[in-house]
Amino acid sequence: MIAQRLKKICYAWEGWAVDAYLGIKTEDYRCGQPSLGRGIFSDSACYVSKPYLLLSAILSPVKIGPVDTFYDIGSGLGRVLFFVAWRQKPSACVGIELDNELYKASIENARRFAKRFPDRGAAQARYANGTVYFAFNPFGERTFSAVLERIEEDLARHPRPVTFIYFNAKYPEVFRRHGWELTRTTRVTGSPLQTMYFAKSGCPKPSPALKSSRPALRETSPQA
Ligand SMILES: C[S@@+](CC[C@H](N)C(=O)[O-])C[C@H]1O[C@@H](n2cnc3c(N)ncnc32)[C@H](O)[C@@H]1O
Repeated sequence: MIAQRLKKICYAWEGWAVDAYLGIKTEDYRCGQPSLGRGIFSDSACYVSKPYLLLSAILSPVKIGPVDTFYDIGSGLGRVLFFVAWRQKPSACVGIELDNELYKASIENARRFAKRFPDRGAAQARYANGTVYFAFNPFGERTFSAVLERIEEDLARHPRPVTFIYFNAKYPEVFRRHGWELTRTTRVTGSPLQTMYFAKSGCPKPSPALKSSRPALRETSPQA
């Protein structure tokens, strides 16, 4: 009995401590029942989370890394998502939650987590498994170069044809320097802004996504 109580206190303390470190709140939620019996099959469970020590043990047999996308189905306040994001750094963590109150609180957790562990932006993001990338003049040459490097690293791990749609293309030289093939240059009728389409990794033709948008585009010849 005493041992049980002690264990409970330890787990609660550990929950508070890790939450505080991650900048999130998943410990103090009153285990409410708003989602109980809901969902299209009326079989939903209510929110309850597990101690971080147990989570760590549960997750440890599975290797999760930069090429993975992690889903928590029934994510509650996001404890598992933030723990995995912090410890294992997958490409992305996705939560699916039915209860609106929990969902909103988990978004607030996401905001606080991002403040504690700031995203280092596009230059250091992971681009796992992308096949079509789009950018509307978001940054300058140095960041573009870093982004292409990150994409190329992923292509080396998982070879596949990729298309890059670069709208208002101000720094096409970067793509050329990185060995991307310019497959098309267009201007949308009525706009002076140029869109360039680049391909990499043996992608001989633009992807089907590009073909379907052809009627809206007036083509000009690719630049050498
Ligand atoms: C036992 S809790 C687990 C919470 C979280 N995974 C964790 O470990 O911290 C189950 C969660 O699933 C959610 N849930 C139940 N039915 C659902 C459904 N049909 N769709 C999405 N989420 C659901 C509940 O609201 C609850 O937050």
